[in-house]
Amino acid sequence: MSINYSEDHKQEKITTAAVLPEDRNDGSLRPRTLSEYIGQQKAKENLRVFIHAAKLRNEPLDHVLLHGPPGLGKTTLAAVIANEMNVNLRITSGPAIEKPGDLVALLTNLSEGDILFVDEIHRLNRAYEEILYPAMEDYAIDIILGKGPSANSIHLDLPHFTLIGATTRSGMLTAPLRDRFGVTLHLQLYTPQELQQIVNRSASIMKVSITDDGSYEIASRSRGTPRIANRLLRRVRDFAQVWSDGSITKEIADSALRNLEVDACGLDATDRKMMESIISLYNGGPVGLDTLAATINEDAATLEDVYEPFLLQNGFLTRTQRGRCVTRKAYEHLGLLFPGQEQLAIDP
Ligand SMILES: Nc1ncnc2c1ncn2[C@@H]1O[C@H](COP(=O)(O)OP(=O)(O)OP(=O)(O)O)[C@@H](O)[C@H]1O
Ligand SMILES: [Mg+2]
Repeated sequence: MSINYSEDHKQEKITTAAVLPEDRNDGSLRPRTLSEYIGQQKAKENLRVFIHAAKLRNEPLDHVLLHGPPGLGKTTLAAVIANEMNVNLRITSGPAIEKPGDLVALLTNLSEGDILFVDEIHRLNRAYEEILYPAMEDYAIDIILGKGPSANSIHLDLPHFTLIGATTRSGMLTAPLRDRFGVTLHLQLYTPQELQQIVNRSASIMKVSITDDGSYEIASRSRGTPRIANRLLRRVRDFAQVWSDGSITKEIADSALRNLEVDACGLDATDRKMMESIISLYNGGPVGLDTLAATINEDAATLEDVYEPFLLQNGFLTRTQRGRCVTRKAYEHLGLLFPGQEQLAIDP
C-alpha cells in the first residue's frame, strides 16, 4: 500500500484547532453569558451554582482550572465567568511570564474580586509557581528584596482574586498547583448538534442566511471544535457568495468543504497520516505514541492533545496499554479492507 504524504497543506490548516490569523476577529462571535455559551452542560451547571453561591456570600469565586483541547472555548469561558461575576478580567499566559517580577506585578495590580486568567498555565516556569501558592491560598506574597545578608523579605497582602488557569495538558501541571484549584472543569468536544447551534448563532451574527441542513453539514465536519466550526462557516460563506446569492445550503456547504478538502468526518491530513501509518507500518497497531510521532514527523504532545481526542471519541482509534490501535471504522473511512476482509475480497 502506498501512502501519499505530500497531501495538500491547505487542508491541514483549515481544520487545525490552533488559532489562525483569520480567527483573530472572532471577538463578535464570542458568547458573553453562560446562557449564550452553547454546550458543556455539566461545566455550565456547576459554574452556575458556584457563581451564585460566591455572589450570595459576597466572595470571589474559587480558583478555576479549565482543561481541554484547543479551540473548545476556555478563553471564552473565562470571559463569561468574569462577566457573570461582574468583575474585571486580566489576561496573561504561562510563557508570557518571563520573570518572577512579571507575576508579582500582575498580582499586585489586581483589584478586589478581579479574575486573573493564565492561559497555557502548564507552560509557566516551575520556579515561579511557588509565588502562586501563597497568593492562591492566603492572598499574600512574600518578596525578597536585595541580595546576601542585607536581603529583606517583605510580606504583601493581595486583594481577594480568582485565578482561572487554562491548559490543554493538565497532566503537565505539578500536583501542588493543581491541588490549589477549588474547581476543575474538563471541557469536552462538542456534539454535531451543539456545533450546529454555534454555527447558526454565528451565521446570524454575521448576517448570513443558512439552512438547517447547511449548518449541520458544517457542524459535522468541524472536529467537535467551535473554533473550526466558525472558520469553516466563514470559508463556506465566501463560496456561497461567489456561487449563488450568499445563502448557505447543504449542497453549497458540501461542495465548498469538498473544495477545501475537508473530508466528510472533518479529518485532516495529520489525522489520516496517523491512521495510515498505524495500518501500513504497524499492522493496525498497537504502536507507542512516541514511535508514531517520530514516524510521521509530528510532535507527540500535539498528537496527544490535538489529534487523539477527536479520533478516540469518534471511534477511529483506541488506546491500549501497549499503544494506539486503529479500528475497523478507520480502515473503512480510508477505503481500506479490514484484515480478514481481504481474504473475502480475493476469494468470495
Ligand atoms: N460554547 C461556545 N458557544 C459558542 N461559541 C463558542 C463556544 N466556545 C467557543 N466558541 C467560539 O470558538 C472560538 C474559540 O474559543 P476559545 O478561543 O475560547 O478557545 P480556547 O479553548 O481558549 O482555545 P485555545 O486552547 O487555543 O486557547 C471563539 O472565538 C468562540 O467564538
Ligand atoms: Mg484560549
